[in-house]
Amino acid sequence: MEPSAKRSEELRSHQWYGAPGLRSFSHRARTRQLGYLPEEHLGKPVIAVLNTWSDINPCHVHLRDRAQAVKRGVWQAGGFPLEFPVATLSETFQKPTPMLYRNLLAMETEELLRSYPVDGAVLLGGCDKSTPALLMGAASVDLPAVFVPAGPMLPGHWRKEVLGSGTDMWKYWDDHRAGLIGDCQLAELESGLARSPGHCMTMGTASTLTAAAEALGMTMPGASSIPAVDSGHDRMAAAAGLRIVGLVREDLKPSQILTRDAFEDAVTTVLGLGGSTNAVIHLIALAGRCGVRLTLDDFDRIARTVPVLANVRPGGGPYLMEDFHFAGGLPGFLSRIPDLLHLERPTVAHTTLREQLDGALVHDDDVIRTREKPLSAEGGVAVLRGNLCPDGAVIKHITADPELLVHTGPAVVFDDYRTLQRTINDPALGITADSVLVLRGSGPKGGPGMPEYGMLPLPDHLLKQGVRDMVRISDARMSGTSYGTCVLHIAPESHVGGPLALVRTGDPITLDVPARSLRLDVPDGELERRRAAWTPPPERYERGYGALYQEQITQADTGCDFAFLARPGQVPDPYAG
Ligand code: FES
Ligand code: MG
Repeated sequence: MEPSAKRSEELRSHQWYGAPGLRSFSHRARTRQLGYLPEEHLGKPVIAVLNTWSDINPCHVHLRDRAQAVKRGVWQAGGFPLEFPVATLSETFQKPTPMLYRNLLAMETEELLRSYPVDGAVLLGGCDKSTPALLMGAASVDLPAVFVPAGPMLPGHWRKEVLGSGTDMWKYWDDHRAGLIGDCQLAELESGLARSPGHCMTMGTASTLTAAAEALGMTMPGASSIPAVDSGHDRMAAAAGLRIVGLVREDLKPSQILTRDAFEDAVTTVLGLGGSTNAVIHLIALAGRCGVRLTLDDFDRIARTVPVLANVRPGGGPYLMEDFHFAGGLPGFLSRIPDLLHLERPTVAHTTLREQLDGALVHDDDVIRTREKPLSAEGGVAVLRGNLCPDGAVIKHITADPELLVHTGPAVVFDDYRTLQRTINDPALGITADSVLVLRGSGPKGGPGMPEYGMLPLPDHLLKQGVRDMVRISDARMSGTSYGTCVLHIAPESHVGGPLALVRTGDPITLDVPARSLRLDVPDGELERRRAAWTPPPERYERGYGALYQEQITQADTGCDFAFLARPGQVPDPYAG
């Protein structure tokens, strides 16, 4: 299908630059002030290059250069690129959690694109929440957009070990606490873990979400796994710049790409990669912006049909994203599961998914497994239900100790993370390997922002005995690079009176992953008595953005969007009023 090209007078930016009247005169005069000749820009599609680069964000520190490659492509295709700095969400540095700011970046993205003379956008990001935030904003404003994933950093090295972001940091930190490695080794690890720009190179949240963006059809083919410092990454950025101009002329918008079929394929991708549990929240939120009702039940249904084929830490192992890239990347992976995908969908690359997968190959069957030799017969995330989580909870069961997938044990309850950190080693708590560690007060509203506390630390005395996993449950999230038998995203959260608020130390809790169930074994009458005595905790923020967040945030099972952003409705065109 060759759509008829949009003429220059039909471009959105024409209202700013080409329409008769004083305002256009002023905009043209001010563009000359920027140093551009009229013939350099008039009548050309204006492309916003939204850049999440910052000195504080090691995952995006190369994006200032990549924006230049994007602009090169835009100029060559006859567009007019303008770079917009937008908020940077650094998973490493931003406290209490960048999740508090995902919706803020989504709002910034949407409103910048709406309020300026923009015809299309190239979105640069990749560190965890940046990807969903940029896509949520672009989807809401519904202007043609291409996403440029930041790319994974190079693999870490220490002595003879290859190190994975996050995953190996947790592992060696526990070894240090257990007395297995000393301060010197720890100092060496500090230098070896992260050795180049780029996002985490495990199949953490960043790699999972950029892969989802590619599967949705919002990136150039094969873009998501290109290492950040590979010159192929520059070429991909230039290709995105070249392509966005055509997308604007064709008027191919996110609403035509981000369909229900696209979201089902993104869920299939995330589950088959053994990807991060955070993807559940972000994809539900993004789908909501597109008018697609994606639910936890969709994840559970699709999980039962998708094998895990990516042998990448922490879901599989031992490989990292660079290995995945050279084994064929996402096109290679998707070429193993064409029967599970909707192949006739459009993508930003002007090809259908089927055309993109034509000729895609896997070059290493150990990194991207065959269907006959999956890492797990079912997808990497399971959705749990039961009286402790009436609106659902999730567990990345492929990283759990198989012995713990069916387990009953007495609860040891912590009301918040600070108390947990202070008291976890207190012998008076009587924690054994059979205990079920329970953390509450860490959900969307109570956290607020669902900090990644979900991989609760184990007590020192158990680490020293060699214990490396226990059943842990919370209304928090967990880093995509974390692992263990951690039940997450319990909904409703304790802060709003979910049953998690009623658990007491000593209550028996039963986890049964094969049955998809999480139960608090306390009689209903007793739970009702406890509920009658329960009072809601105070809000943590009395003013400012945090207070707005607490007021507007929705629960984990519906994606943690702001209620006023998630609802459908008209937004006036800035030139209409
Ligand atoms: Fe940025 Fe992990 S810290 S992706
Ligand atoms: Mg992370």
